[in-house]
Amino acid sequence: MSQHKPRVFSGVQPTGNLHLGNYLGAIVRFVDLQADHECIYCVVDMHAITVWQDPQELQRSTREVTAAFLAAGIDAEQHIVFNQSQVSTHAELAWVLNCIARIGWLNRMTQFKEKAGKNRENASVGLYDYPVLMAADILAYHAEMVPVGEDQKQHLELTRDIASKFNNDYAERIAELGLARTEDGGFFPLPEPLIKGPATRVMSLRDGTKKMSKSDPSDYSRINLSDDADTIAKKVRKAKTDPEPLPESVDGLKERPEAANLVGIYAALAGMSPQEVLNDFGGKGFAEFKPALADLVVEKLGPINAEMKRLLDDPAHIDAVLRNGAERARAIAAPIFDDVKRIVGFLS
Ligand code: TYM
Repeated sequence: MSQHKPRVFSGVQPTGNLHLGNYLGAIVRFVDLQADHECIYCVVDMHAITVWQDPQELQRSTREVTAAFLAAGIDAEQHIVFNQSQVSTHAELAWVLNCIARIGWLNRMTQFKEKAGKNRENASVGLYDYPVLMAADILAYHAEMVPVGEDQKQHLELTRDIASKFNNDYAERIAELGLARTEDGGFFPLPEPLIKGPATRVMSLRDGTKKMSKSDPSDYSRINLSDDADTIAKKVRKAKTDPEPLPESVDGLKERPEAANLVGIYAALAGMSPQEVLNDFGGKGFAEFKPALADLVVEKLGPINAEMKRLLDDPAHIDAVLRNGAERARAIAAPIFDDVKRIVGFLS
């Protein structure tokens, strides 16, 4: 008997410099979920252009993120890997959801405030609307679970609010058409955020209070998936720390953001808990811990880095994977969007 496998959706922006935060906070989780879920992983090129992207660089980055997915162990035959712009339902559904989402809700999005900075008047309308497109990504597939890092929590809450409002506004119509999909008569299931593990918020190597980010001007703040072994070792060696040895228990990490971050990274890569890492390294100084950490990062990222390079040598293959994934994604999203059109009252 075939069992219902919950549907997972997540996305990564092709904006250059995929880093250890993206890897541990998202991609590793994507890989793990494949065993007992139906997974759809999307390279969100339409989200990327909410801030200026050089066209050729966007193409390169789209292939690079795809290569990272495949190199990390995502099976694009059993599951779906594609780039967002090839499936027009994302944009079409986003429009309908734009008419559901309220301006007041978007005004509360902290990521927009951070990204737009002081010059808000000059930010693109797309950057402001970014979270609605993200809701469309997820809801277009009736996805039930969304693995992401901590920084996406607010966007997922907004997705749930949009889905609830759609379900409520059109409740009668959904019932009339017999299109209820959830127990309480809704059309869109409310997706569950999956934000778990020791690395949901990997911090900058230069400042343990700031998250590791693609846009940090200092390359020493992050470890990129494309870094070679020497670069990784140098970045770990130069990572900011304090003069104290590592504590014996996780309580001792509380006021030490840089130490907590490095222990968290070690734990996530080794598949251990932070306490287990401290059982091995408690009382030892960074002079001993950092080389062990660098070795572990190289051991885990080295093979992925090599496989990414191999895949990127054959861009035609990557493009074919994306086209094939897009076709299968369309087949899921199109009938769902046809129902949305009937619910809303669009003639076809
Ligand atoms: P993006 O491309 O910024 O990040 C991709 C994933 O990496 C996670 N992440 C981190 N996790 C831990 N520590 C960090 N320092 C760190 N930095 C990034 C992010 O949380 C994310 O899971 N809006 C999304 C892309 C998106 C999406 C979606 C995600 C578009 N549509 C639909 C889920 C569902 C983003 O900004 O990704």
